[in-house]
Amino acid sequence: MTKVRTKFLCQQCGFEAAKWVGRCPGCLEWNSLVEKTAAPSFPLRSDQKPVNNPQVISDVLVDSGIRYRTGSAEVDRVLGGGLVPGSLVLLSGDPGIGKSTLLLQVARWLSDQNGPVLYVTAEESVQQIALRASRLGINSNRLMVLGEADLGIVAEHIKQLNPLMVIIDSIQTVFSPELVMAPGTLGQVRESTAFLMNLAKTTQIVVWIVGHVTKDGAIAGPRVLEHMVDVVLHLDGERHHSFRILRGMKNRFGSTNESGILEMQETGLVDVTNPSEWFLTERPINAAGSVVVATLEGTRPLLVEVQALVVPGGFGQPRRSITGADYNRVSLILAVLEKRVGLNILNQDVFVNVVGGTKVIEPAADLGIALALASSFKGIPANRDLLVTGEIGLTGEIRSVGQINKRLQEAARLGFKQLIIPKGNERQVKNPAGTELIGVVTLEEALEVVFSG
Ligand code: TYD
Ligand code: MG
Repeated sequence: MTKVRTKFLCQQCGFEAAKWVGRCPGCLEWNSLVEKTAAPSFPLRSDQKPVNNPQVISDVLVDSGIRYRTGSAEVDRVLGGGLVPGSLVLLSGDPGIGKSTLLLQVARWLSDQNGPVLYVTAEESVQQIALRASRLGINSNRLMVLGEADLGIVAEHIKQLNPLMVIIDSIQTVFSPELVMAPGTLGQVRESTAFLMNLAKTTQIVVWIVGHVTKDGAIAGPRVLEHMVDVVLHLDGERHHSFRILRGMKNRFGSTNESGILEMQETGLVDVTNPSEWFLTERPINAAGSVVVATLEGTRPLLVEVQALVVPGGFGQPRRSITGADYNRVSLILAVLEKRVGLNILNQDVFVNVVGGTKVIEPAADLGIALALASSFKGIPANRDLLVTGEIGLTGEIRSVGQINKRLQEAARLGFKQLIIPKGNERQVKNPAGTELIGVVTLEEALEVVFSG
């Protein structure tokens, strides 16, 4: 085993140390030293190196056109039309969210349609993977599973099997034998990723790596991981809800603006083709505090129900419990309702929930949140056919939102009749037939429309 010499580099000031210390001697910052290997441990052999010559730009072949489908239209969309041969794709997400399930399903499809697939598990046993596979009803004889953490050995098997796609579950549990460090450490994760990148590029195999996410939302391991790979996908959702959303965070072969919506069922993840309908199925009738907003998820319009409950607070600090919306944004909206509209709401206990376990992070949801709060506070339900969109400014003005027509078309499709939008958006609207369009300038005006009609 060759031992690679490492040194430690301060991320703050660039100080170099021979061994790791908790505090950088250069700038006195705590925990800022990271390992740095002296030499890449898996260099390309000279006979593997592609020969590159300068070419006239218009002669360069842009795309070979080959993309492997994944069996899910939602996943294909996020990937930009499918998997590109030779690409390295990172799938991140919380533990238990469904990463292994998703990849097993993709593996089934590819091995059925295209060729051999190797699923390397270093985290669960092969029996556990097989159990999941039988739950998913998979019996492809071109899908191989290997319980191995040593990437050197994995590489040997890849040479023999010559698969189209390799899945590494997970990058935090495999190691490259050239480094004397534990799996999951910074150096190992980076080194293993570099090795897999090299593998993908020299063999045209599609390589997936699974990466866990730490509590604060970062992919465990170095940030450089994200810079190294071609595609970063993040699988998100509430563990206790069945709804999952796959977002493209980086994509060298497509747009990062796409997202896919899936549902975790008894037999794995299934595409949700009509997400807005899905989110609105259990909407209460005539209940105060419920308002539907039109947001955008990637490039797709998504209608979701915002629920608010405002109750008189006890003594001391009023309670704020916010699920699915931004805490600071809700605080701002409450302050605007108090100061600009004159609702005596700041001393109340406030609960806000976005139904279905999704998140609305777009400011375009502001007006909906404000109206849900006001509706609960006043005890007056909003019109059932009402749909709103608009950002709220600090003076209580309603600011325009992007892609207004997409949002309104989705609203009209689902039968919403009364649409409250920012005045500034009004002239862009191609009025969807059969709807009443109301442009508002201020939050006060919007409240007037909703609660005095
Ligand atoms: P898993 O793919 O193991 O998550 P990860 O790899 O991200 O840690 O998914 C685990 C959860 O999914 C577990 O709670 C069981 C559930 N599940 C289903 O609901 N249906 C299924 O068909 C499968 C395979 C799993
Ligand atoms: Mg897993």
